[in-house]
Amino acid sequence: MARQATVDGEWWRAAVAYQIYPRSFADSNGDGVGDLPGIIDHLDHLAGRPDSLGVDAIWLSPIYPSPGLDGGYDVADHAGVDPLFGTMADFDRLVGEAHRRGLKVLLDLVLNHTSDRHAWFQESRRSRDNPRADWYVWHDPAGWSRRRPVPPNNWLSFFGGSAWEWEPARGQFYLHTFLPQQPDVNWREPAAAEAQLAMVRGWLARGVDGFRLDVFNALLKDPELRSNPRRWQLSRRPWDRQWHVYDKDRPDFPALIARFRAVVDEAPGRMSVGELFAGDLSQAAAYTNGHHLVFDFGLLERPWSAEAIGREIDRREAAFGPDRWPAVVLSNHDRSRHVSRFLRDLGRDDEATADRVARAAAVLLLTLRGTPFLYYGEELGLPDIRVARVAIMDPPARRAGFFFPWWNRDQCRSPMPWAAGPGAGFTNGRPWLPLSPDHDRRNVASEAADPGSVQNAYRRLLAVRRGSAALERGSFTRLATGSRDVLAYERRSGAERAVVAINFALEPRDLTPPAGSWSVRYSTNEPDGAAVAPFGPGSRRLAGLEAVILANAESASR
Ligand code: NOJ
Repeated sequence: MARQATVDGEWWRAAVAYQIYPRSFADSNGDGVGDLPGIIDHLDHLAGRPDSLGVDAIWLSPIYPSPGLDGGYDVADHAGVDPLFGTMADFDRLVGEAHRRGLKVLLDLVLNHTSDRHAWFQESRRSRDNPRADWYVWHDPAGWSRRRPVPPNNWLSFFGGSAWEWEPARGQFYLHTFLPQQPDVNWREPAAAEAQLAMVRGWLARGVDGFRLDVFNALLKDPELRSNPRRWQLSRRPWDRQWHVYDKDRPDFPALIARFRAVVDEAPGRMSVGELFAGDLSQAAAYTNGHHLVFDFGLLERPWSAEAIGREIDRREAAFGPDRWPAVVLSNHDRSRHVSRFLRDLGRDDEATADRVARAAAVLLLTLRGTPFLYYGEELGLPDIRVARVAIMDPPARRAGFFFPWWNRDQCRSPMPWAAGPGAGFTNGRPWLPLSPDHDRRNVASEAADPGSVQNAYRRLLAVRRGSAALERGSFTRLATGSRDVLAYERRSGAERAVVAINFALEPRDLTPPAGSWSVRYSTNEPDGAAVAPFGPGSRRLAGLEAVILANAESASR
């Protein structure tokens, strides 16, 4: 009931989104690469049936035609579908099938750059006076040194080396914040901006429900292309040794994002979420408004520690305040999967601890204030795969080297294991990346049959969340626990109160809830936890890595 009310308005506040990396989700034609028909075949896993996971939206990482030098973030045509993934008819069918199950569809918009194969860039690079000559960020050399042109300023590519690439046909440099094959679009050129917004309108007309905006705070650069100031920091990466004040986060950026939002708002009920590129919490909060969320990666960068994560939550709550709505992320396609990270923090590598930490982390992700974004496979407790240096498929990783924070992104992109056996139900062919070694045990079918599995924990937890206005949209207050290993907070909506407590230690710890009468709504240690057990009075032992959700008497009777 409470949930329905939000569906018509700002549905994304109560929603849980699920990120699909299309290459790795499900392959329908045996070429070893996931595709749109494969996604359609597996939508029941996500929503629409009593045994579905129960998420509300899917975000598709890029599905556009692309040479694939950056996993599809090098887009050759923003308005099309890569034949690797299927056709536009498949896409329309996917939207229809998702909507039939009550799932919203979010596309990944890569507005900062295109592929160098994009028709716009092909034309732009040809000469200084073609109709698209100014659609990218071009500039004359700062001078010549030993017969070589000198880049216009000191800007660096996030993927290593200078951010400027020489184009002999124009006798000029072009800017690339990422790979040289990913030239940055010039948003200050009105025709280029209009063309991008027209493309956005095109997708809205096809029925998409919103967008994730890739590195959105980098869209505008300093018009004078001033060099970034030097940052005195001990870091092996030159990129970290600059203050990035001129190549992103420009003062006129909020006006541009408002313009983008105005286009999105032409279609009611659509949302957007911007990926904050190398920014801090205050920027994330400042760029957040009613319809537009922002991913900040503070939580994702914290170790498995109640104190460290607690501090990060305090910082983000302070930065966002009660009125701005955060997005909550623990894993994505750029970073080591959180189960693997947290296991390393705990100094463990056994399956049992992996499952326990996966269940506890799920409670954190799904009960903090904000819209959670799950990354495919995390509902199985999927770990990173090991990929030898020589076998790495991800070109930016090869270019940027070992000190790159997204080093070896192949590790978190392994194919989704649907069932035991060769190909893991992902493909009849040879998977484009290795399957996770434990896929015979850790897969959707096996976990569905095991009441204690991580997947069933996610399913039950999502159901508890759906039944609770406090967890979905309530206020947030951190609670003191008297233990450095137990993180606890209260979510409240009207008379409904929920207390969440997570024991980060491997050993038991005591928990004393606030005064009142509480019952256990959910515990990671009661796998079939349908029963609502009384909690108090007084304190109770939380087992190692146990997380609980307690409900007050008023909400238990709902
Ligand atoms: C952020 C994306 O998440 C990442 O995968 C990509 O490489 C860069 N943006 C460049 O598009």
